[in-house]
Amino acid sequence: MAPSSLLAALVGVLLFSYAAAIHLPRAGLTAAAASNGGDTKVYVVFTERQPATAELAEEEAGAAIAALHHDMIGSVLLDDSSNAADRVVYHYSRSLHGFAARLTEDEKNRLAGMDGVLSIHEKVVYRPQTTRSWDFLGLPQHNDPVRLPFENDVIIGMLDTGISPDSESFSDDGLPPPPAKWKGVCSKNFTSCNNKIIGARAYYNGDRTVSVLDDEGHGTHTSSTAAGRAVAGASLGGLAGGIARGAVPGARLAVYKVCFGEEGCSSEDILAAFDDAIADGVDVISASIGMVMPLDYPEDPLSVGAFHAMKRGVVTSVSAGNSGPILGTVSNVSPWTVSVAATATDRLIISELVLGDGKRIQGNGITVFANLGKPSLLLDPGSCEEEHLQGKKYKGAVLLCGSGVLTSSSAMYSTGAEGAVMYSTQYDDNTTAFSYALPTVIIPKDDYDHMMDYYNKSRHPMAIVKKSVTVKNTAAPTVAKFSSRGPNQVTYGVLKPDISAPGVDILAAWSPMASLSGDDVDERRVKYNIISGTSMSCPHVTGAAAYVKSVHPSWSHAAVLSALVTTATPMSSGDPEAELAYGAGQVNPMGARYPGLVYDASVEDYVDFLCAQGYNSTQLAAMTGSSSTACSDEARSGNVGDLNYPSISVPVINHGVSFAAEFPRTVTNVGPDDSVYRATVTTVPGVDVDVTPDELAFSAGTKKLSFKVTVSGKLLPSNTTMGASASVVWSDGRHSVRSPIYVFPHKHVM
Ligand SMILES: *[C@@H]1O[C@H](CO)[C@@H](O)[C@H](O)[C@H]1NC(C)=O
Ligand SMILES: *[C@@H]1O[C@H](CO)[C@@H](O)[C@H](O)[C@H]1NC(C)=O
Ligand SMILES: *[C@@H]1O[C@H](CO)[C@@H](O)[C@H](O)[C@H]1NC(C)=O
Ligand SMILES: *[C@@H]1O[C@H](CO)[C@@H](O)[C@H](O)[C@H]1NC(C)=O
Ligand SMILES: *[C@@H]1O[C@H](CO)[C@@H](O)[C@H](O)[C@H]1NC(C)=O
Repeated sequence: MAPSSLLAALVGVLLFSYAAAIHLPRAGLTAAAASNGGDTKVYVVFTERQPATAELAEEEAGAAIAALHHDMIGSVLLDDSSNAADRVVYHYSRSLHGFAARLTEDEKNRLAGMDGVLSIHEKVVYRPQTTRSWDFLGLPQHNDPVRLPFENDVIIGMLDTGISPDSESFSDDGLPPPPAKWKGVCSKNFTSCNNKIIGARAYYNGDRTVSVLDDEGHGTHTSSTAAGRAVAGASLGGLAGGIARGAVPGARLAVYKVCFGEEGCSSEDILAAFDDAIADGVDVISASIGMVMPLDYPEDPLSVGAFHAMKRGVVTSVSAGNSGPILGTVSNVSPWTVSVAATATDRLIISELVLGDGKRIQGNGITVFANLGKPSLLLDPGSCEEEHLQGKKYKGAVLLCGSGVLTSSSAMYSTGAEGAVMYSTQYDDNTTAFSYALPTVIIPKDDYDHMMDYYNKSRHPMAIVKKSVTVKNTAAPTVAKFSSRGPNQVTYGVLKPDISAPGVDILAAWSPMASLSGDDVDERRVKYNIISGTSMSCPHVTGAAAYVKSVHPSWSHAAVLSALVTTATPMSSGDPEAELAYGAGQVNPMGARYPGLVYDASVEDYVDFLCAQGYNSTQLAAMTGSSSTACSDEARSGNVGDLNYPSISVPVINHGVSFAAEFPRTVTNVGPDDSVYRATVTTVPGVDVDVTPDELAFSAGTKKLSFKVTVSGKLLPSNTTMGASASVVWSDGRHSVRSPIYVFPHKHVM
């Protein structure tokens, strides 16, 4: 399929199946070119680093670099070069090198040829993707005085919609002042910084003075999931009650607001946030934002920002995307990030519809309204679509809406209706309930047909949408249908998503500036809200990464990723996409602290990976920020699968076609010195996995040992799975270091 038609297909499906999900990203990939006067667009320009400024204090260096950028821009302006400063949106000078500026096409082209310019990128726009979850993951509850001090040194940078600081979840009770490494600031008109929220900045089209306050709820929710204090008695209208808490209640939050409602999250703002966050001294960056489809790494600002973070040992955790279950939709795919899929926990939220004849129908929807009386059931001939509802009055009725495409419930609300019933042909009883401005339930098509039958036969049809209840999901963890699936379309040979975490019906702090349902007509305000998405699973892994960093502050991105991946709890929920749905499995924060062995990787290893990926000098420079990065012949002829990644992805031509692939790997012993590890392979018929050597003996002097994994055979056709799942587990009797291996045929992908 051609990329454009694939994209069209994806956008179509998204609108169909998730238009109701107003907390999910609205179909993205709008390479929106904001033109601010004339025919200029915002471009991000990466430049060579200026070594001359290395000696200067940060402020002076900043001024020197700004002057240099003005010179560069001035020299391509034909009208009046004194305007250069007005064209600048951002100077990147703390961690990245370059600037964002408004330029015409001609100006951009002239700049492209200039000395010191590495690459130029058009604006791209991302979208935000929504108490029990930590208990479910086995992370013990604590505001534990013994553990808190370790966590106190960990700083989490949240790239999101800002924060609502007044939530109890962000109390700094008992927390000491920020650690000495912290170099960040709080925006002048954000007066709520404390020892919990230690940084707060906003980036809006070059304007750093806009409010950091969260008027959408999303950033408040993700921040409290990662690092909220334990708050007892949290619930949404009595629903899902319990203790709301983040993974690392003692960790600090540094807020970088880069997402602004319908305008989304723009590349130049995101890069400015990375530029600051890395220099400010954060340990982990959490970005619950994404697109419908992945971009090539050098064209993906989130990927470029995360590359610079990785260089400084900062872990970046990202959401896999909400475009599942279609294959190849995972949108944040670079190997120097942790890409997180969403699962349902053992607690599901259901709504119930009770008909006048006593029949009860279970459905989807978060309803925390008081139970209604006995409203009559009415059929809206226009399927409750906005244009059909204009001017209609359905006061007191529960509307039968057919297969409604519900982007906003405001039109239905305005009719005075007391509730609405819709069906979905993609109904999945184990996934994702949403809130609406009025009691709304989504039911399976079969049940809807039964209801229509009742409606047609009954003289006074009646129905009640009951208040939601929670039920036990015995099949948990299962991957949410909406969670984007692999394979990684930029590099088939790197498994994405990496890992799974709870992302369905998650209770966390909410902003009083946003309504419960996110709908403008909804006047309900809540302290805690329940939303779903890979946006919600991402901060769980952010928190787990921070938990690992609290014990091992000096670990690299790769070491933390490895610890998370190799200790994940394997899943096998019968998904035909298997590892392409859940990665290594469900995150296990406790296990990740002491993984035994880690698959580490250096900046050079990632550069070799980029060389194996076949990038030319421009693309390489855009990624690394330097034109002096070159590929050795050896790296050029290497394989992407040579990267010392903790999982193994084996793309093969097709079922029945012989294949053989080798994966060199090196593990670093991070456990007791004299440990001896043995490899155990699990595989399926048709796929042979060999590990040589299969025993590794470490000592005080030998911390790193290498081995080779050979995967070969012929993939057998199967009616239930697309590929084949295998694994290698290294064990010393105490630690179990598991690498998933997934073999899949190309033909199913494009
Ligand atoms: C913050 O302060 C700046 C100037 O000091 C002002 O222009 C801006 O409107 C303020 N923003 C908010 C949200 O108060
Ligand atoms: C109910 O009646 C409507 C039209 O009045 C019709 O389209 C529909 O098929 C009927 N459904 C059932 C289940 O009888
Ligand atoms: C939902 O979960 C139940 C067990 O709770 C399981 O039997 C069923 O197959 C699941 N359905 C889907 C669509 O995953
Ligand atoms: C490198 O590849 C990119 C994308 O294909 C292309 O736009 C660029 O011109 C290439 N640069 C060089 C130096 O070949
Ligand atoms: C797949 O299903 C078909 C028809 O149901 C059956 O004949 C065939 O044996 C199955 N193949 C495998 C590999 O299970």
